[in-house]
Amino acid sequence: MKRVVFNQKGGVGKTSITCNLAAIGAAMGYKTLVVDLDVQGNTTHYLVGDIDADAFPAQAQGVAGLFKQTVGSRKMRQNPDSFVWDTPYENLFIMPSSPVLSDLEKELESRYKIYKLRDALEKLDEEYDRVYIDTPPNFNFYSKAALIAADSVLIPFDCDSFARQSLYSLLDNIGELQEDHNPDLEVEGIVINQFNSQARLPAELVAELEEEGLPVFSSYLNTSVKMKESHREHRPLIDLAPGHKLTGQFLDLHAELEKTLARAAA
Ligand SMILES: Nc1ncnc2c1ncn2[C@@H]1O[C@H](COP(=O)(O)OP(=O)(O)O)[C@@H](O)[C@H]1O
Ligand SMILES: [Mg+2]
Repeated sequence: MKRVVFNQKGGVGKTSITCNLAAIGAAMGYKTLVVDLDVQGNTTHYLVGDIDADAFPAQAQGVAGLFKQTVGSRKMRQNPDSFVWDTPYENLFIMPSSPVLSDLEKELESRYKIYKLRDALEKLDEEYDRVYIDTPPNFNFYSKAALIAADSVLIPFDCDSFARQSLYSLLDNIGELQEDHNPDLEVEGIVINQFNSQARLPAELVAELEEEGLPVFSSYLNTSVKMKESHREHRPLIDLAPGHKLTGQFLDLHAELEKTLARAAA
């Protein structure tokens, strides 16, 4: 099962949601791969801390290495798994981001490499029970490649009125991508993040989305300073604060995702 977390708006919680759902799945025993397609590398930093590239010579370029070999010599190709790093957490693995991604983008685009991530992840289907892909805050080559590679998309929504406006162009873009490249991509649901039950606006915005029939997950994620602490400490919430309220909300969201998956499989 491959999920992409996407919203072209920045700062909505893509990285936080990717890493925390992946860490929960891993803690529950699913062998999980996180793919970090954002050149900023926040997910990589969150899960493995400050990177010592020398410690990983063969795989130092992570997902960039994977893409790079699609434009290089065919003889030299390595298995996609050779671009995967361990993380400090059991069952949790990462194909890290790299600054090289931005230099590569134009060449990959002009040489039609948009399906290469899908092909690579298909080769890893047997290896990993769950794959979570984090995306940049743009509808660019990398986020499109991710939406093509994934089975489903989770859309973080951060409860401000800009988020509401950008949701429609986002859903349009996803619709176009489904039509052109990946008809099987499912919009699994909208993840309500930075929810504040004391304020009126978030509840109103969420009610509007639901009234329009959009698929909104019923487990909302509150705003909490624990999230920032978790990023700073490079420890996902399930590790840093297993009993915290926000961790509980992530566990509920994770259970909701897995339940729908089990139902779909039945
Ligand atoms: N539920 C939350 N509570 C508090 N802070 C949050 C929450 N979700 C995200 N943040 C913070 O908001 C910022 C953006 O989140 P991030 O996950 O990096 O978003 P994106 O990947 O979409 O840019 C980060 O500083 C993160 O710590
Ligand atoms: Mg991010």
